[in-house]
Amino acid sequence: MKMLFTLILSFCLIFYFNVEIVSTSPLQYDSIFNFGDSLSDTGNFLLSGAMAFPVIAQLPYGETFFRHATGRCSDGRLVVDFISEASGLPHLPPYLALRKDQLHSFHGVNFAVAGATALDAKFFYDQSIGKVLWTNDSLSVQLGWFKQLKSSLCTTKQECDNYFKKSLFLVGEIGGNDYNYAYFVGGSIKQLRASVPLVVEAITKATSFLIEEGAVELLVPGNFPIGCSAVYLTLFGSPNKTEYDRNGCLKAYNAFSKNHNYQLKRALDMLRQKYPHARIIYADYYGAAMRFIHAPRHHGFTGGTLTACCGGGGPYNFNNSARCGHIGSRACSNPSSHANWDGIHLTEAAYRYVAMGLVNGTFTTPPLRSSLK
Ligand SMILES: *[C@@H]1O[C@H](CO)[C@@H](O)[C@H](O)[C@H]1NC(C)=O
Ligand SMILES: *[C@@H]1O[C@H](CO)[C@@H](O)[C@H](O)[C@H]1NC(C)=O
Ligand SMILES: *[C@@H]1O[C@H](CO)[C@@H](O)[C@H](O)[C@H]1NC(C)=O
Ligand SMILES: *[C@@H]1O[C@H](CO)[C@@H](O)[C@H](O)[C@H]1NC(C)=O
Repeated sequence: MKMLFTLILSFCLIFYFNVEIVSTSPLQYDSIFNFGDSLSDTGNFLLSGAMAFPVIAQLPYGETFFRHATGRCSDGRLVVDFISEASGLPHLPPYLALRKDQLHSFHGVNFAVAGATALDAKFFYDQSIGKVLWTNDSLSVQLGWFKQLKSSLCTTKQECDNYFKKSLFLVGEIGGNDYNYAYFVGGSIKQLRASVPLVVEAITKATSFLIEEGAVELLVPGNFPIGCSAVYLTLFGSPNKTEYDRNGCLKAYNAFSKNHNYQLKRALDMLRQKYPHARIIYADYYGAAMRFIHAPRHHGFTGGTLTACCGGGGPYNFNNSARCGHIGSRACSNPSSHANWDGIHLTEAAYRYVAMGLVNGTFTTPPLRSSLK
């Protein structure tokens, strides 16, 4: 009887202990490598000149957490910053600022560049829309940077495999700009649907490349619901109410994002078969964002989730002639009361909810927490 009691007690303790570990332990990575665009750039675009978007060098960009502009396209931290924090690691330095002496206590690096595309710049030049690109540092350019850096991290295959086994690779979000550029110069949804398989292929090729280089743990995010973004709502708004869903988002553009995500998930399924030893995790940014778009007040967004905090007027506070940081714009007094920061990007508060959905929630498949080690 006593033994049975002890057994039950220890079972309960073990069970309790496990639950605790699952819910609060930090993620177990020694380093993080991030690829992407403005959703995760921590300074590369600014370091490269930021010709197309110089206002990210000034407040109010960065005002919330860093209290100065860092080159992040938000008021504060991004999803990648919260993932670094959840792993007990420092925020990732931008690759273009990495110094040789930092390689001694290296915990990863960020290759993301604001404005970057999944497809190479040539694709856009071939379609005569190359001039609108903010940057040519597409996903494959970022992979080239990784390859260059790799030689200073490890030499033999064995050494590299051992090194990268303890690393998390974030492949995106990337691809959103491939569509943004085309939509903003007048592309139709029908025309753009044709480019989705190409964008998805660029993302899965990058994922394969990294696995071949030794990555085993990879997180590949889908796209946000673009039909809920202030810039899309402003540029493509319609007097026809049936084009909006119950949250006030443009149905056709959200359907476009969902289609991209669907194709990406299917492509990742195929990659999982090809590389059974790797953990290829899909991150559902769409679902994670939809939670607060659907219930703004429940998440503390008293200023709503569709209207930008920082902008120059208009129904969604996005005005292309007075974008956030430009003359004629102003930022709201409490950015965490808004999900949308500048019409295009989200606030730190919104990114925190997305990160929470990935790290502690159910928006990663398979779950991020049950990692290899
Ligand atoms: C991208 O490359 C093209 C062609 O090489 C060049 O003309 C253009 O200035 C580059 N764009 C940027 C933003 O660097
Ligand atoms: C409004 O949009 C719906 C599709 O969302 C379309 O079927 C309908 O014809 C449109 N109505 C008008 C007045 O344009
Ligand atoms: C947009 O900004 C321009 C330039 O500051 C201004 O003249 C215009 O009134 C603004 N539009 C709206 C809708 O606030
Ligand atoms: C996950 O949950 C833990 C414990 O509740 C919390 O400390 C942590 O901040 C959460 N992580 C994120 C990214 O929200």
